[in-house]
Amino acid sequence: MEIKRAQWSSHISFIIATVGSAVGLGNIWRFPYIMGKNGGGIFLLTYLLLIAFICIIPLCCELGLGKIYKQDAINTFNTINPKFKWLGWLCIITVTLIPCFYFVVGGWILNYIWVFLTSQLPQNFSIYFSQFSSQIFMPCFLTILFLIMTAMFPFKGINNGIEKANNIMMPLFTIILIILSLFALTLPGAKEGLIFMFKPDFSHFDKTMILTALGQALFTLSIGMGTILTYGSYMKENTNIVKSAYTLIICDTFIAVLAGIMIFPIVFSFGVEPSAGATLAFISMPQMFSQLPFGAFFGLIFFALLFFASITSGISMMETTIAAFIDNFNISRKKATIITTAIIAIISIPASLSFGLLSNFKILNKTVFDLLDYSTSNIFLPLNTLFICLIAGWFTPDFIKKVFGENFIAKIFYILLKFIVPLILICVLISGIN
Ligand code: PHE
Repeated sequence: MEIKRAQWSSHISFIIATVGSAVGLGNIWRFPYIMGKNGGGIFLLTYLLLIAFICIIPLCCELGLGKIYKQDAINTFNTINPKFKWLGWLCIITVTLIPCFYFVVGGWILNYIWVFLTSQLPQNFSIYFSQFSSQIFMPCFLTILFLIMTAMFPFKGINNGIEKANNIMMPLFTIILIILSLFALTLPGAKEGLIFMFKPDFSHFDKTMILTALGQALFTLSIGMGTILTYGSYMKENTNIVKSAYTLIICDTFIAVLAGIMIFPIVFSFGVEPSAGATLAFISMPQMFSQLPFGAFFGLIFFALLFFASITSGISMMETTIAAFIDNFNISRKKATIITTAIIAIISIPASLSFGLLSNFKILNKTVFDLLDYSTSNIFLPLNTLFICLIAGWFTPDFIKKVFGENFIAKIFYILLKFIVPLILICVLISGIN
């Protein structure tokens, strides 16, 4: 019996869900610290140009393939040509590996929510973070807890689970982000923070910075692993792909910039190096909150913000794998969710232990956590994106006409899709491997 494929109940739900997928730790945690390390304003400018003219292409490819074929990633590429089925699998492997480290960070977020909720603030967050993350039991337990919380939503299905979660959490997320940004703007370092963000310092403009910006753009838009394709497969027939893609890009970028407006004034007010790196969210930020009036409250809502961002992205990662299992192995949604959860649980434990027990266990000179992060972001994402563009542009019948129409703009998109974007992605890959 053919079961009718689920559909988003409205266009706005579809947009909220894709924004929920795109807006994640990539925006709130990764974007500000990468911008901090790469010269602030000049990075922002490069990133905006790349996202508007380059990343729009693979984004439209995934949305378009989802809309045309209405299947999971594996079946989509298999339908285009059985020779391309492997690409579907490559996407599924990538999107199953990402939560294995992403949810470890989710576990840390749960811990910090607890710390701020109970106001048991440590004196020194730097010592606290390294002590906590190197424990054996607690970080693993919280990773699995975060995983189960996330899995509950795809378990309940598209309309009852995923759509509801996004429709509740994304507005809450936006409200918190606006409150925190407004608060940050009242701090003494606000002006300096904003100048850092918006004044381009051209001395940072080089090849590495461009490539970093592109890698970040792919990651933050959830491109290159069939996630947007899967969400696109539930869209209604009359949805306009290019418009939806630009809406998604504008929302995602707006939130990333707002996250910067929240973080840099705080960073400059306390004299922390803006290039402090990955520890900005778990050491510098909580340390600063603990010194502010009402700090426990602001700290709590900051980590609630990270929680909403990461869980709505996590849901979309899991849904991509779950949809592939349902469509390819003919199993129920519930069974597919349980299998996906079990696979992620098994791999995420060594990732969590990378900060303690397994910190000396290295593959290719990287801990399990770093290997998962590095290989997915720097190798699989650009590689899969390259193949998705090539297959959509060169092998999918009438793809350009169906997605972009036949006007002048469509001609520009045609050249971008067939030649320019693949070329740029090849450059990213070569530099990512070096
Ligand atoms: N885009 C998400 C973020 O910015 C990450 C993500 C990757 C989401 C892959 C879904 C799939 O954090």
